Amino acid sequence: MSYDVERIRADFPILKEKVRGKRLAYLDNAATTQKPRAVIEAITRYYETSNANVHRAVHELAERATTQYEGARDRIAKFFNAQREEVVFTRGSTEAINLVAYSFLRPRLKEGDEILLTGMEHHSNIVPWQLIAAQCGAKVIAAPVLEDGSLDFDGWRARLNERTRFVAVVHVSNTLGTINPVTEIIAEAKQRDIPVLVDGAQAVAHLKVDFAALGADFYTLSAHKLYGPTGFGCLMGKRARLDAMPPWHGGGDMIRTVSFEGSTWAEPPYRFEAGTPDMAGAIGLAAALDYVEGIGLGAIAVHEHSLLLEATHALQDIPGLQLIGTAEGKGGILSFVIQGANAQDVGSLLDQQGVAVRTGHHCTMPLMARFGISATIRASLACYNSQEDVMQLHSALIKSTRLLRM
Ligand code: ALA
Repeated sequence: MSYDVERIRADFPILKEKVRGKRLAYLDNAATTQKPRAVIEAITRYYETSNANVHRAVHELAERATTQYEGARDRIAKFFNAQREEVVFTRGSTEAINLVAYSFLRPRLKEGDEILLTGMEHHSNIVPWQLIAAQCGAKVIAAPVLEDGSLDFDGWRARLNERTRFVAVVHVSNTLGTINPVTEIIAEAKQRDIPVLVDGAQAVAHLKVDFAALGADFYTLSAHKLYGPTGFGCLMGKRARLDAMPPWHGGGDMIRTVSFEGSTWAEPPYRFEAGTPDMAGAIGLAAALDYVEGIGLGAIAVHEHSLLLEATHALQDIPGLQLIGTAEGKGGILSFVIQGANAQDVGSLLDQQGVAVRTGHHCTMPLMARFGISATIRASLACYNSQEDVMQLHSALIKSTRLLRM
């Protein structure tokens, strides 16, 4: 069956919006994806028919809410081939990484220990490790990035040593689109019994992730980058790892017993889910996974790849444009600079022509420093982008560079 992008676009109400009076070419998908009607309706339906607090009351609405919320956990676990007890609900990938930093690593971290990252991490996969390293006298080490934006794997391996206590790596770079060799990284780390966290925020909408087969100790994701709602995400953690972790946030629903003499904790994943959870978030993510499965992640990946090739080709005739990140097999992200043009100015001119891209450091300041730049213009692709979007980007860039050179 051929990929019917127009049919897919029709599922996303926002794509019909005019912006600045122009057709919208939404190319800021690495920041957040738009939501299909199926997700919006699942969330609305939950609030209209089933809203109540979960795990607490015996009334019918509480039962409906709990069934749907826990049903969402089953759906998410199945999609990523994880056990349901391994799926911890969080506010997103950032919170999931912080949870691992504070609950798993901090109690184990000693002076002189090292946490090995890569030079292309998002700030959310740098700063939590720096915070706990500073508290424990440990060090954060970053493996180098090659000129094409791929990981210097030998450089990474050379930094793995007897002091390395933890490895964290981004699966797909939000700035460059580079897909990291996470299987090899996990295999190397495992040989030394070093736990690995993979930040999958930018990967899950584009690549099939099988948590059991991958073998990472922890894998994180954000629903909003996967056509789901904002403010919701997951930490997937190996059962043995989660079992060995103390709670991070205290509150209702994460306890077994509470007394003033002391409290005891619920089993994972509930131990890590204090307070009233985001029921609609979980239900929205489950609906997003149904939606993605309906199209097929494989078909989406093929479509995005062919658009990436087209866009890469089209951008070649923009004067002074230089792509940052050209790693082989990279995902659907085009980051670039234009000689003599300020990225922010280009972003504003593109916006005037209906083209939404992100400009700036993309929360990867060390990566910007690596390339000796302070910002890029980034166009990032999703399942609903079309050739028309690419053409609109191209003609808007031609016009913008002309205006900026006047
Ligand atoms: N991490 C998101 C991005 O790359 C916000 O834009």
